[in-house]
Parts: sequence; C-alpha cells; structure tokens
Amino acid sequence: MSYILVTGGAGFIGSHVVKELLRQGYQPVVYDNLQTGHRKAIGDAPFVKGDLADREKLKETLQSYPIQAVIHFAADCLVGESVENPVKYFKNNVRKGIHLIEIMEEVGINKIVFSSSAAVYGEPHEIPITEEHPCLPTNPYGETKWIFERVLQTLFKTGKMNSISLRYFNAAGADPEGELGEDHRPETHLIPMVFRAALNNSSVPILGTDYDTPDGTCIRDYIHVSDLSHAHLLALKKLEEGRFAGAYNLGNGNGYSVKEVIKVVSRVTGKRIGVIESARRPGDPSRLVASSAKIKRELGWAQKYPGLGTIIDTAWQWFCKHPEGYHD
Ligand code: UFG
Repeated sequence: MSYILVTGGAGFIGSHVVKELLRQGYQPVVYDNLQTGHRKAIGDAPFVKGDLADREKLKETLQSYPIQAVIHFAADCLVGESVENPVKYFKNNVRKGIHLIEIMEEVGINKIVFSSSAAVYGEPHEIPITEEHPCLPTNPYGETKWIFERVLQTLFKTGKMNSISLRYFNAAGADPEGELGEDHRPETHLIPMVFRAALNNSSVPILGTDYDTPDGTCIRDYIHVSDLSHAHLLALKKLEEGRFAGAYNLGNGNGYSVKEVIKVVSRVTGKRIGVIESARRPGDPSRLVASSAKIKRELGWAQKYPGLGTIIDTAWQWFCKHPEGYHD
C-alpha cells in the first residue's frame, strides 16, 4: 500500500482527496493545523495535528510512515484577504511550503502534487485559458502560488523533485455521498454565501456589477470537487511512473457570471434570493474560464459532474443537512 502525506487534508478539497485516496487503495496520512480544516472531515485516516512551521513534527511524521509522495494543500486561499495581508500569504504559502520541500529532501521523498490556482494567470488575454497563457497574477494569493510553482520547476531542472501543479479554477459542490462538504470560517465563497442568503431570507452581495462582461458581473469556471479530487490520483500515478514535472488546469470549460450562479441556485433550491449590488472586491479578475484539454489528453482526466446544476445540487444537499457545518 502506498502512503501519501496530505498537508491540509482536513480542508474542503483536501478531505475529498483523502476520501478518494482511500477509495483507490492508498493510505493517506493527514497533516493539518486545523486552523481552517475540520477533524471530522477525515474520518479514520491517520492524522497529525501540526503546522508546516513545526519542522520537527513534520519530519517525525514523514519518518513515522513509509511516505512515498506528498499532496500539498495546506495554504491560505482567499484572494481578498491576500490583498489586505500579503505578508501572511508569503509566510504561509511560500515560506512554509519551502519548509515542506526542505524536509522532503532531508528524508528522501521526491514527489509532490501541488495545489495551485487559476489565480496564477491574472487578468486573461484569452478565454479559455490554456497552460501556455502568461502567468501574471493580479493578487498576492496568486503570486504565492506562482512563486511556489517556479520553485518546483527549478527543483525539477536540478534533479531534486518531481512535481505536478494543479491549477484549480473554482472548486465547488460536495461529495455526492453526502459525507463531506464545504465549511469555511469565515465563508466568503459565492455559492455557500448564496445558500446562506437562501436559507436565512437575507441578501447576498454581488461584488461588482461594472465588469466588462455581458451582465457586468464576474465570470468564473466552477468545477466539482470530486472531479478535482480524481485529478490528484491521476497526478500521483503519473509521478509514480518516473521523472516528471508539469502544470495542468482543472476547470469545467464553461464560465458563469455571478448573476447566473445566483439564478441556478434559486432554481435548484426553489428559493428567491435577494441581492445587494456592491463594490468590486480588490484583486478579482473579471473572467476566468479554463481549457482543461491538456490534463484530458495527457493524464486521461474526465469529468463526472460537469453541470453547474449538479454541482450546486450536491453542495445544497450537504448544506441543508449541515447548516452549521461540521460542528467541531
Ligand atoms: N462573489 C460575490 N459575492 C460574494 C462572494 C463572491 O459576488 O459574496 C463573487 C466574487 O467577486 C467572484 C465570484 O463571486 O467574482 C467568485 O468568488 P469566490 O470567492 O467564490 O471565488 P474566487 O473566484 O474569488 O476564488 C476562488 C478560490 C481561490 C482561487 C480562485 C481562482 O477561492 O482560491 O477561485 O480564481 F484562487
């Protein structure tokens, strides 16, 4: 059995990947400081409560299990917060990532799947965005992801590390079996914010109505978290084959505006949703839509849940059963 260290494995995407690893016969070992993750989201998988800054604990964890590769999620991931507090992002996403790499080198582990982001591209020149698009992030969060990708590219060139960076567009939805879902505190993501408004008969802010898009609101590409999870397993298998480094987009290929998302939520939930037209959120690009042709072609990735209605429906099922989140 292959042991895989999953940093940030108690988070939204991490916990879905842990479930998929178990399903496919891997043994995930979760390393998470539980600052934003949830212990209840990882079930019985071996768990170490630790921060990447704690080198001793990290090293001890990597030596206590026969770890063969790392999937690295642990990071801060809010665009707006990164604009307000960029140092926090450089510290947590870059410096602590380097700690991880350093210790992986010390114990002789040379495979890593890195949780990158569409935020590396910045304001796109072309839609859909392919991996050849220039990386010019427009916010510190995207900058930290791009810096770390370049660290990994350099370590590959020098023969030290094999890596796959997965550039997620907007992860959404929830485990179709209803065991896992999205529980961010504070919540800032669009779909759960709209759910909250639907459930509380309150209104959701639309952050910017003057973008250069057909209805003036931002366009994003929402991808089901289970489809995203599956891609991590394909990336691991690719790294198991031998020396490799690469970056892949992961999106749906369809862009939906904020107003369109609100309409679909309204249809799926059967609720009327009030909106407040508000100012733009600094750092938000107007339009992000992925081409995922490369990962389909090279790793054989395919989507099981491509429709926005299904993505929202799985998330809504979980949200209705867990209006207070994981309760931990
Ligand atoms: N939005 C609103 N109202 C809200 C919340 C969000 O109008 O209450 C808008 C945002 O301005 C944005 C869109 O809805 O235009 C989506 O916002 P999210 O916060 O749900 O997601 P982001 O696109 O900002 O960010 C997500 C991930 C990041 C990742 C990024 C890649 O959270 O980690 O996608 O583009 F970097």
